[in-house]
Amino acid sequence: MKLLLKGGSVVDPLKERVLRLDVLVEEGKIAALAPQIEAPDAEIISIDERLVCPGFVDMHCHLREPGEEFKETILTGTRAAGRGGFTAVVCMGNTKPPADSRAVIEFMKRQVETAPVPVYPVGCATKERKGEELAEIGDLAEAGAIALSDDGNSIMSSEVMRRVLEYSRIFDLLVISHCEDRNLSGNGVMHEGFMSTLLGLRGIPRAAEEVHVARDLILAEMTGARLHIAHVSSAGSVQLIREAKSRGVRVTAEVAPHHLCLTDAAVQTFDTNTKVNPPLRTKHDIEALCAGLRDGTIDVIATDHAPHTAEEKEVEFNYAPFGISGLETAVPLMWEYLVTRGVLSPVELVQKMAFNPARILGLPERVIEVGKQAHLTVIDPHLKLPVRVKDFVSLGKNSPFDGWELQGWPVLIIVSGEAIYAERTGAGEKGD
Ligand code: DOR
Repeated sequence: MKLLLKGGSVVDPLKERVLRLDVLVEEGKIAALAPQIEAPDAEIISIDERLVCPGFVDMHCHLREPGEEFKETILTGTRAAGRGGFTAVVCMGNTKPPADSRAVIEFMKRQVETAPVPVYPVGCATKERKGEELAEIGDLAEAGAIALSDDGNSIMSSEVMRRVLEYSRIFDLLVISHCEDRNLSGNGVMHEGFMSTLLGLRGIPRAAEEVHVARDLILAEMTGARLHIAHVSSAGSVQLIREAKSRGVRVTAEVAPHHLCLTDAAVQTFDTNTKVNPPLRTKHDIEALCAGLRDGTIDVIATDHAPHTAEEKEVEFNYAPFGISGLETAVPLMWEYLVTRGVLSPVELVQKMAFNPARILGLPERVIEVGKQAHLTVIDPHLKLPVRVKDFVSLGKNSPFDGWELQGWPVLIIVSGEAIYAERTGAGEKGD
């Protein structure tokens, strides 16, 4: 089957340019790239000035299967990923049971066979994510875990973290760290500061994150392991990672869209969809996160998609679970907040959401070149639509962005040469 994408602008994250090119896709690969391609036997997709980008990769999401299929399944989560413009996702191991054994990783791999978008599971770093005993890391690697993480939980023991990093080197696995000193975060529910005092809610100080970022950077330096800091939320963390990178520590880092678009002031509504871990912080932190994205301290934008049911979220703020359903809003949020506001260029956004996560994880390279696998994300930079949570295909409707008018929506993805259209009303749909 041949597809001809006509009239689009192709984003090249390596040569850092955008060129008007047609793209011919054949047998799952990019077969030709030229200003005008004629291919009478190909299905023609009119791209019409939209952006053809290398396929976006979400390197941090929660798909809840096995064990919490009422929140999300691998199928619903990957459908949401596709609708959100992602051509691959990395799912965390805080499932029930956790992905701390070969059996769970193998189960996930089987479920993924019918998913519209490839899923790469992360294995737990420690047994039952308790942070006490190492998981069978060799088994996890052999079963196909792409990285190690106890995400959702931090590894409180520095000694255990050291061993995780040491073992990860044997299998050349990335260690993704959820940085949180739980002695400092305690039973906090939002960022600790003026707002938490005003609202009378228990706070989580920046230091809860930063203490673990500093520790893990020191341990990564000591062990020579590859460390990736998940969901960086604080200005201090950005500075610590910047300094570590400058002295050659093998560290990469990610930020989630909600930490770039919302501050702790959003919690004033007591909307539990603003309850997330790490918590929404302040304008000062957002500025530091943007500076970190611009100077390369932060390599990746990842959703931390954390679906929960309405029943779980419709409780008092203190009792609601942490998390935001993020797969279906990440791209337009980042287009609107980063690209249209001049924080990142379209090329830089593609580096953060496609090229870098694929490079860090060793996935098929996210570049559009003849001979490469055809994983593509098409974005309509002019399409303006409100977020409609009720239309999410994710089972998780827990989004604080419902009703937000955003510009720059994904309209189509191509996974291994197969086109999947984002199902949303408005311009950009199939046949449009
Ligand atoms: O808000 C969050 N939700 N942060 C995490 O680290 C875990 C996640 C979840 O699994 O719900």
